Parts: sequence; C-alpha cells; structure tokens
Amino acid sequence: MTSRNAARDIHFEAGGSLAPPLRRAHGVSQADVAAELRRCGGVLTELQSDAAPAGFVRGLKRPSILANTRKVAARWRRRKPTDLIHIGIGGSSLGAEALLRALAHPQYNLQPLAKRGGPRVHFVDNVDPETLGALLEWVDLKKSLVHVVSKSGGTVETAAGFQIVREALERSARGTRWAEHCVFTTGRSALRDMARRAGAAILDFPEDIGGRFSVLTPSGLFTPAVAGVDIASVINGARRYLARVAKGPVVDNPSAVAAGIAYLMAESKRKPIHVLMPYADSLEPLSRWYVQLIGESLGKRKQKGSRKAKRSVGVGPTPLPARGTTDQHSQVQLFVEGPSDKWVTFVGVDACRRKRVIAGGPPAEYLEGVDLGELLRAEHRGTAVALAQAGRPTADWRLPKISPDSIGQLFFALELQTAFQGALYGINAYDQPGVEAGKLAAFALIGREGYADHRKAIEASVPPRWTL
Ligand code: PA5
Repeated sequence: MTSRNAARDIHFEAGGSLAPPLRRAHGVSQADVAAELRRCGGVLTELQSDAAPAGFVRGLKRPSILANTRKVAARWRRRKPTDLIHIGIGGSSLGAEALLRALAHPQYNLQPLAKRGGPRVHFVDNVDPETLGALLEWVDLKKSLVHVVSKSGGTVETAAGFQIVREALERSARGTRWAEHCVFTTGRSALRDMARRAGAAILDFPEDIGGRFSVLTPSGLFTPAVAGVDIASVINGARRYLARVAKGPVVDNPSAVAAGIAYLMAESKRKPIHVLMPYADSLEPLSRWYVQLIGESLGKRKQKGSRKAKRSVGVGPTPLPARGTTDQHSQVQLFVEGPSDKWVTFVGVDACRRKRVIAGGPPAEYLEGVDLGELLRAEHRGTAVALAQAGRPTADWRLPKISPDSIGQLFFALELQTAFQGALYGINAYDQPGVEAGKLAAFALIGREGYADHRKAIEASVPPRWTL
C-alpha cells in the first residue's frame, strides 16, 4: 500500500470496535475482520475493470467527466447568475448538496455576490409546493441558472419541479428562451431529447454510474463548481485515495476494513443500526448522503438457507445520521444507555479552518483561552470515551482538515466501503427495486396513462380502516 501522508490523507481508526477492551459480544478482532475480507480480495480489481457492475471507480479515471464539468461551469460563472436552482432528488441531489456544504463558505448564500463569487444555491428535492412556491416568489429567474439532474430523466419529482420552473422562466425571462437558463445532467433519456431539441446545455450522467454513486460526476460536481468549489482537487483527492488502496492487501484498505467491521457488527454482534456522526457542521449533509448510500445500496432481499429450503430475507444495516456536538444532547443518551444495537462511526477533523478563542468569564472561567475547535475535539473524544466505558463500539474517519482534497478522499472512501459491504452481503448494491415499486404506485395514483391496471390493483388492496 502506498504510504499515508499524515498531513493530507484521511485515515480510519478502528480501535474503538476491538474486543478486548470491549467484551467479545460487542467487539471484533482483527482476525475476524480479516477472515470476512478473504471473500473480498477481488472486489477492487473488479471495480476497476470493464466488467464491473458499477462504474464509479472506472469513472474516476475518465478525464472528460472533470473537463466537461469545469468547462460548462466556467462559462456559467462568467455569466454571473445571482441564483442557481438545483432540481433533482436522491442521488441526483444529495451528493451535490453535501459537497457544496462541506466546501463552500458556511454562510455562502448570505454573503454578498462580490464575496461569494458565484450564485446563491437552492436545492429543490421535494414536491412540497410551499418550498418551491416560496423560492419562485423570491428569486429573479431572469438572472438565474437552473441545473436539472436526472439520470433516468423520468423521476416524477424532478419532472414536476422542472415543469414548474420552466413555465415560470417562460413567463419571467422575457427576451431570452428558457433553455438558455438551464443545464441538464442526464443519461440517454426523454429529458435529454427534450433538452437537445430546446438547445439547452447538456452534461452526461454516466450510464454506468448510479445516482447515489454519482457525487464525483457532473451530477454532484457541476453545482458546487459554479459556486466556486475546486472540483479538480476533489477529484484529485479521490484519485489519490484510490492509488493508495489499490496496490495493497485488502486488510490494509480502510474502506474494506470499515465494511468488514460494519458487516460483523450487523450480522454477528446484533448491531444493525449504524450511526454516522461527524463533528463538523459542514459535514452534516454528508451524513444524509451516506444514509441514502447505505440505505438504498444495502437494504435488499437476499436468498438464504439450504438449496431445498430457500427463503428470501431482508438484509442491510439501518443508517442513522447524527451530528456532534448537537446530538450529544439528543441521541447520545440512547447510544450510551439504550439497546446495545448500534455501531457509531465518527468523522473527526484534526484542524478546523477557523479559530475562535473563548474569552472566558463567569460562570465558565475554565473556558478562558480555549479555542472552539479544541472544545469540539474534546467533546468528540468525550463521547467516544463514554461509549467505550458503556461497552459500545465506535470507529473514526479522521480528516487532517476539511479541504477539497480530503473531502474527495472521504466521499470516495465511503462509496468504496459501501461496495465492499455489498460484496460481503452477497447482494447487488447498485439497484433499487424497492424504490421502483413506490414510483410505479405514485404514477398509477396520479392517473398516468398506461398505469390503470396498476391503479386498480392498488385500490383493491386498501388496508382496513381505523380512523380515530
Ligand atoms: O441513487 C439512486 O439511484 C436514486 O436515489 C436516484 O438518484 C433517484 O431516484 C433519482 O433518480 P434519477 O437521477 O433517475 O432522477
């Protein structure tokens, strides 16, 4: 394995999951993890090959992804839009939001344009009329850019949001065509055909990369790039992480080890709830992105049992987002004393980008001269200690600091972790049949043509009433 550069590279600290010091019922041994990972020796090699079932590793090596995204983003930055409306849902929104929030100024949207250097950014990832209605009352569409992201081009929420914004653009952006305000990131889809006919800019959503693995493609990169995020360094960080783990044995790969522990915690230590708890406000959206990545990739049906008595069972951990220190006063009581069914992974940052030294004074003289970042790290350590004392396992992703490079490493490391977990469960981590069922039902219920039989079936299966 290429050696780790302590000043730049992230690392995974798994000591809090080991038994001893934890009791055997709650902790794992390095040998347990290595034994599980014997099944995963070929995972990374396969992911880099043309035969891989998903292209998020291969995609990192395609220079056109970064080059095209930067070119179109630079063109838009020169046009100086005041606002950018990002329309997409699930993997077509969460990655862009997590990347932007991690790397843009914490008060980015509130800064004056001269300081921001890019448009205010708004994410439309729901069909709540209150949110989109209020945004359109406020934003000046004539000066705005709309980024529509949908790999399939057929997602109902994205289609609905786009139609409303397009109609509002047609009304307000007199003198310009609506398409001049839009960039579409999509695959081979009806949305793409429509965008091409309208003359709008199009970025390719890689056909071999699914939504939740798409943060390092135009789906996740374009919006942050228009806001000024250095996406070349993000990609560079991810590529460096890949180079670091690609050559060594699987037991030296932090993503594989994290996956091995996660798998053992869920499957043999009775800890199916997996908490991701960053100690950084800017990483809070990363937890939401992670929840979707784990939930949609690993929550699957699987055939279990002997050949004669096969049965289909649901597998996969339940991801739970938390944020330090805020959730120390909310969920941590449950993590320390509640059911011992959780595994907590922290994300810690060794050096914050800003310093704020506390003046001290009554009744908190003990805080005099303490930097807030130091307090944040002490509280993080305190939570880890409290969990360890209660026999609860933890682990830590550690970043030397938050930078485009380290964030690129972290996103990619977590994607790889998920791929390894999928291999351990023996499931397809790249499909989402459970989501499709809900989409079809919604089409039927809003009366979409071609779904009449589906609707009849839904109406015939209404649950009994219990109205209070
Ligand atoms: O991760 C996934 O595959 C999903 O969450 C999709 O991103 C989400 O359903 C949106 O799909 P699309 O990009 O096709 O609109």
